[in-house]
Amino acid sequence: MEQEFRKIETESRTLVRETSGVKELEELRVKYLGRKGALNLLLKKMGALDPDERPVWGKKINALKRELEDTIRSRREELSGQTEDTGNFDPTLPPELFRHPGRNPVISVLEEVSDIFVSMGFGIAYGPDIETDYYNFTALNFPEGHPARDMHDTFYIKGSDRLLRTHTSPVQVRVMEKQPPPYQFIAPGKCYRRDTIDASHLPSFHQVEGLMVDKDISFAHLKGVLDEFARRFFPGETVTRFRPSFFPFTEPSAEMDIRCTICSGGGCSSCSGKGFIEILGAGMVDPEVFRHCGVDPDKWQGFAFGMGIERMAMLKYGISDLRYFFQNHRSFLEQF
Ligand code: DAH
Repeated sequence: MEQEFRKIETESRTLVRETSGVKELEELRVKYLGRKGALNLLLKKMGALDPDERPVWGKKINALKRELEDTIRSRREELSGQTEDTGNFDPTLPPELFRHPGRNPVISVLEEVSDIFVSMGFGIAYGPDIETDYYNFTALNFPEGHPARDMHDTFYIKGSDRLLRTHTSPVQVRVMEKQPPPYQFIAPGKCYRRDTIDASHLPSFHQVEGLMVDKDISFAHLKGVLDEFARRFFPGETVTRFRPSFFPFTEPSAEMDIRCTICSGGGCSSCSGKGFIEILGAGMVDPEVFRHCGVDPDKWQGFAFGMGIERMAMLKYGISDLRYFFQNHRSFLEQF
């Protein structure tokens, strides 16, 4: 009995684990659990045992039966995800329940960010994904050959002066050269950079750009608007800070950080020990940009900002790898 039981136990466990088809699995179920299957035969043989040994073996055999039933059931669920061409389709089977996969969080965050600015009086402007070198760089005060262009690993289109825009900032120029100030709009859209794909880089991503220009707009307005945005976008008590930075199209330039929501500023692995996490770039529009657009910098001032939407979504939902956004895995999307 002992020997026979052990043999069935190890053999059935291995075979069930290793099956690669639903049909084969059903054959194993019949072989071990069927009416004339190995375990029922073993139960029948118990009659030959000593009376006090019978309940011990009865328990063991029934436990193995239950275990096999469970593993076969879960293995069947795993395998039924695969398509097996059995040649007979049964139209009377109930359909698989439709589960809504949820929205891609990048799109939800893009809309949420846009809604916050729209509620503060910003309009929405769009520009083309394929840009000229002039709008993407020159008009934004990146002179030809200037090292600041290296910050953007650009996809150039062979044989033309066109490229895939590396940021949404060229929309500032397109709007300003077409109509007179004042301006107050955001420009959401896709951007492209020649990055190697990893947890924090993708060749295509989304940004929201913003521009506010009027008479007497100061850095205080920039701080007020962006602070308000951060408080509305991130739940809980949001603490912000501004650090000096450099962008060719703003002067002065700054980066805005929020206090790390994981460690509350103490320093942890999420914020690389800094206590703060960068969320966007901003600054006062450089007079040189105004000149390129025919706007008089002595009469008009303003601020601009730009943020990466994937980054905002990662921070909001605690997602550690950018690639999840574009793999379309149900288990990921169903969470949103
Ligand atoms: N265009 C910048 C980038 O992609 C982001 C940015 C920074 C936009 C500062 C702005 C700004 O409008 O003022 O790196």
